[in-house]
This record gives sequence, structure tokens and C-alpha cells, in this order.
Amino acid sequence: MTTNQSRSEQLYERAMKVLPGGVSRNAVLRKPHPTYVAHASGCWVTDIEGVRRLDFANNMASLIHGHAHPAITAAVAAQISKGTAFTLATEIEVEYAEHMVSRSKSFEKIRFVNSGTEGVMCCIKAARAFTQRPMIAKVEGAYHGLYDYAEVSQTAGPANWGDADHPAATPVSRGTPKSALDEVVVLPFNEPERAIALLNEHASRIACVLIDPLPHRVGMMAASAAFIEALHAWTRANGALLVFDEVITFRSAYGGAQEWYRVRPDLTALGKIIGGGFPVGAIAGRADVMDVLNPLASSVLFPHSGTFSANPVTLSAGHAAMTNFTRDEVARVNALGERARVQIAQSIDAADIPACVTGAGSMFRIHLKPEVPTDYRSAFPTPQEAKAKETLVEDLFQRGIMLINSCSGTISTPMCEREVDQLTDTLSEAFKKIRPMLPAVTGV
Ligand SMILES: Cc1ncc(COP(=O)(O)O)c(C=O)c1O
Repeated sequence: MTTNQSRSEQLYERAMKVLPGGVSRNAVLRKPHPTYVAHASGCWVTDIEGVRRLDFANNMASLIHGHAHPAITAAVAAQISKGTAFTLATEIEVEYAEHMVSRSKSFEKIRFVNSGTEGVMCCIKAARAFTQRPMIAKVEGAYHGLYDYAEVSQTAGPANWGDADHPAATPVSRGTPKSALDEVVVLPFNEPERAIALLNEHASRIACVLIDPLPHRVGMMAASAAFIEALHAWTRANGALLVFDEVITFRSAYGGAQEWYRVRPDLTALGKIIGGGFPVGAIAGRADVMDVLNPLASSVLFPHSGTFSANPVTLSAGHAAMTNFTRDEVARVNALGERARVQIAQSIDAADIPACVTGAGSMFRIHLKPEVPTDYRSAFPTPQEAKAKETLVEDLFQRGIMLINSCSGTISTPMCEREVDQLTDTLSEAFKKIRPMLPAVTGV
């Protein structure tokens, strides 16, 4: 340890010796070292150096009520004093399942797990068990967690993404078995005709089409009704299931972003906000499909368990979070999201930089591109854009605003117009800093 080091620097020096890269999750890595948190309340986070920041990252979109919401804190404290994990069922599991099932027509039954990754994995395994088929289809670039099949193509780039009519199934981790890649059809986003042509090539082997209705990594543009309806119709005609990944988007409407469409998924993967700030995932959907998990069936198609699944601390927090995320609150954070998007677009215009904003509901993403992207490929940043984006996110951090590294943000319920205005006022300043890093805007 040397003198004049900040506490974060000191901690990171220790962390580097015992954690790969000094962290357990890459999302908290910042250069030259992570910032360590001291405490947080509402939409404000204070680090161990005593600096306070306005939090639009919300633990990667997982905190709908920001930090230390009194109802969640009370529910968790009450549960912890009674014990934290049992080899017995708990009342909160039943109560919370009833609440979640009441929120969406498509949730006839639900099971709780420990992460969004696990929720997606369970959906895929349930779809395979139900259809007795091996393959899945997913959108190019979409993030669905770490399961081998779900992560295919997630980090594809110009060097390996292949033909637009036939996006390549690329691995994320070295050593991913080729057999896993071979079981995934990669679809171009919001291109119904191309997608259906690709699905038709494997029609009898596809268990499910997995789709996030507002895929963050693809660019945070909403899936069009035409795309969702085409995928839905194709799954009906071909004996496959439609699976929505609403791990992030469940915040978008009282019953999730699926309310945006006329058709409903057979299964939905959930996570993030439904844990009230604790690790969580869930699989919800049609009763007959969910029955593949039924351990009382004469033949159990998908035996499923998990030591911490439906953990009562998580479910107490989640129940308090979701019962306080009423229809009125959903509408209020969505209106703030719209205010943010409109004002960000105005700041971009005023700063005269080649940038645009996407998003829906309570989420937004800033792209340092002149044209609004339409899919993963058009959203993919050039090296120049990537550098400017990194500078922008860092500059905002220094000015007291926390965004997700992709330059995305989410609204939480402790926020009101004042916080959104603070975001966009600060952005206006930060845009001036990155302007020289970007090409000039070509006027009409
Ligand atoms: C759409 C989506 N699906 C799945 C996941 C995986 O969730 P978790 O990080 O809880 O495993 C994420 C996480 O960011 C996500 O954004």
C-alpha cells in the first residue's frame, strides 16, 4: 500500500490478488479501479470516498425502487430474524406466486429460481421437455445470461457475424462446444421475413423462439408487432413455443412488456426487479407447459430444483417491491422515461453531435450515431463511437451521474422530474466534452 491512495485504490490492490480482474462481475469494473460503495438510499449512492451520485444504473436495471426502500427493508428484516433458508416450504412463496400470477394473463403458473440466467435456462429446458426438440432460436446480439445456448451470438462483431440473411452462431466463451452452437438459430432483429425463412430451415427441430421485446444489447429498440406476431404465428404452425425474456422488461408495464402485443408468450423468464434487490429469477407461463416441472406427474419431464430457489428473504423483498410497483407507479416511471428520452434528444440537437436515443417505458439508451439503429448490426459502435461512449459514461460519473456502461439508464420510483432534469442538464455539459471526438453532423 502506498500513501495518497484512495480507499478504492487500496481495496482494489487487495482485490486483484484474490479475484480474477479484482471483481466477481465485470459490470463493476471501471478504469483505473472500481469505485467501492459505502451506502445508498433512494436514487442516491455514496461511495467510500464520500462522493454521492444520482443512480440511473440501478444495479443493472434491477432496482425499481432504488436503494433501501422502507417497505422492502422492513420485509427483509422481519424475515431474516425468523431464519433465512429452510428445507421446508414457506408461506411467502405461495403469497408471492399468487401476486405474480395475478399480474399477467400468460402467467398461469410460476417457479422461482436464483438469477435471470437460470430463469432463461429453465424456459429453454422446459420448452425442450415439452416439445421433445433440441434447438432454440434467438435474436443476434441479444443478451439472455450465461447459459451456453442462450449466449450464442451475443458478442458477434463484423469479423465473425456472417451474412445478414444467415447470421452466424458465434460463441461467447472459448471452448463452447460446437454442438451447442449447432443447436441455435440466430435471427436478425425485427425482420419477420428473414427470420421465418431461417426458422423454416429447422422447423421440426426447434423447441422455442426466445425473444426479449426490448433487447438492451441489440440497441434497446422495441420488437415490432409484426415481428412478434410473425414469430408467434410460426411457433403455432410448427409446434414450437414462444418464450419471452422479460428479465429486464418486466418493469415496462404492470404485466410486463408482453402487454404491448396482441399475442402472448407460452413462457416468460423473469428476474431483476422481481427480487427487490436480491438475487432472483423465475419461469412463468402456460399451466400445461409448466407442468413439465411437476414432480407429482407420473413421468417427470424436467426434474428441477435449486438449494436457494424461492428463498424467503428474496421473496419477501420481491413481494414488497412488486406490490409497491402499482399500475400508477408503472405509469409514472414510464412518463419519466419518456421525459428523459425527449429531453436527451433535445440536448443532442442543442449540442449538435451525431447521436440519438432509443428505449421505451422507464429505460433509455444513448447511441453516438446520427441515425437511430434498427438492429444489432446498425447499433454496433465503431471504434471511434465506442471510445467516445466510454468517455461520456466516465465524464457523467465524474459529474455525479451513474449510467450502465452501454450508455443506458433506468428510472426508479424515488425519482421525479427533478432527477430527470438533472440527468439531461448534466448530459448537455458532457456532450460538449465528447463533441471533438465525433464526426461533424452533416446538415440537410
Ligand atoms: C434480458 C436479460 N436476460 C437475462 C439476464 C441474466 O440475468 P442475471 O444477470 O440475473 O443472470 C439479463 C441480465 O442482464 C438480461 O438483461
